[in-house]
Amino acid sequence: MPAPTPAVEPVSTDARATPVQVDTPGGRYEIRIGSGLIGTAESWSGLPRAADAVIVSNPAIWSLYGPALAAAIAPQHRRVTQVLLPDGEQHKDWPSLQRIYDHLLGAGCDRKTLLYALGGGVVGDITGFAAATYMRGVPFVQVPTTLLAQVDSSVGGKTAINHPLGKNMIGAFYQPVRVVCDSDTLSSLPRRELVAGLAEVIKYGPIYDDGFLGWIEAHLDALLAGEPGALAHAVQRSCEIKAAVVGADERESGLRAILNFGHTFGHAIEAGLGFGTWLHGEAVGCGMVLASRLSAELGLASASYAERIERVVARAGLPTRAPAFAGERWLELMRHDKKAEAGEIRFVLVEAPGRATVRPAPDALVLDVIRRHSEATPAGVPARP
Ligand code: NAD
Ligand code: GLY
Repeated sequence: MPAPTPAVEPVSTDARATPVQVDTPGGRYEIRIGSGLIGTAESWSGLPRAADAVIVSNPAIWSLYGPALAAAIAPQHRRVTQVLLPDGEQHKDWPSLQRIYDHLLGAGCDRKTLLYALGGGVVGDITGFAAATYMRGVPFVQVPTTLLAQVDSSVGGKTAINHPLGKNMIGAFYQPVRVVCDSDTLSSLPRRELVAGLAEVIKYGPIYDDGFLGWIEAHLDALLAGEPGALAHAVQRSCEIKAAVVGADERESGLRAILNFGHTFGHAIEAGLGFGTWLHGEAVGCGMVLASRLSAELGLASASYAERIERVVARAGLPTRAPAFAGERWLELMRHDKKAEAGEIRFVLVEAPGRATVRPAPDALVLDVIRRHSEATPAGVPARP
């Protein structure tokens, strides 16, 4: 499935970059990216009129950024309240969702209420699903505070909670009315979370824009050092690419699946080790290495391109060696991937620099690639770099 490879944008270190437009059948909206946006009134102008604003967050993020957001949006609403959910992927669940509904109904919030998701992908996904379902749909704004959320989860309208039998299994496509990425929030992000977010940045290079991969390689040290200009450009370019992909295929009937590069192996690693053992981005990093190697084995990408991807993943500090699950266990885990069709596992593969395709691959070859890239400790869990 070829994707167009646009020219690389010049590096912008402006505090306020040009907003990225997202245009899907489910909604048109802007992604505003820059420093100091949370506390700036202009970031919130032009949103749907709503008497009630409800900020959904968790206690840690609220204490860092909640009061500034509440103060900045206060002039636009009659009342601003907040609902704070417990932190962590294990709380992206029904009880947290219920807590949001309880707050909305208890406070008498009407169908014009505007929800603000202030946090990482967990808060964003659950708030989006609450917005999609409360009174059959109220508008919501994404205010992502992790790198992963700024470059991926806040854009494109995938919303969900987890079910005990599967991650993101209960959800909806529901677009936000705006995304505001304040790059200052990334300064408080723990390094492990920053590195995990870089996996989703790196992914856009091999699947869509090889020039961006070159930019990442050249600026990786700056990104790892948390340099605001480098991070702002990484967020800007990632959002431009994600906007182009979801604009072409909102519901993942084709092209959008390329955004899952590294995710078939990655989800298997997360599920096989138990969610939370490796962060999502860490598993995706390793998954991209395996998917690139598989692409080379299938005669798609060259071996040297696969090596190049492995080098950048390793330099970012992401794992490149997979856990040593038994072959049958790998296959069983990967068959749960949402891209699987009638039990057939489908992989996002690199067919040329900056271009991806989605295909099945012979089990024996997949398992051989995994075996050659596994490094087990006695517990079967490879040490993270
Ligand atoms: P997260 O939301 O759990 O955030 C990671 C941790 O960082 C949390 O403890 C959080 O409280 C903390 N945190 C957030 N912002 C902070 C800040 N600025 N300073 C300090 N600490 C901060 O994890 P995530 O990586 O942001 O998101 C992962 C979730 O996103 C998963 O549930 C995944 O399924 C989902 N996701 C969704 C999509 C989508 O398209 N909707 C895409 C990718 C991932
Ligand atoms: N994160 C993959 C997608 O949004 O489709």
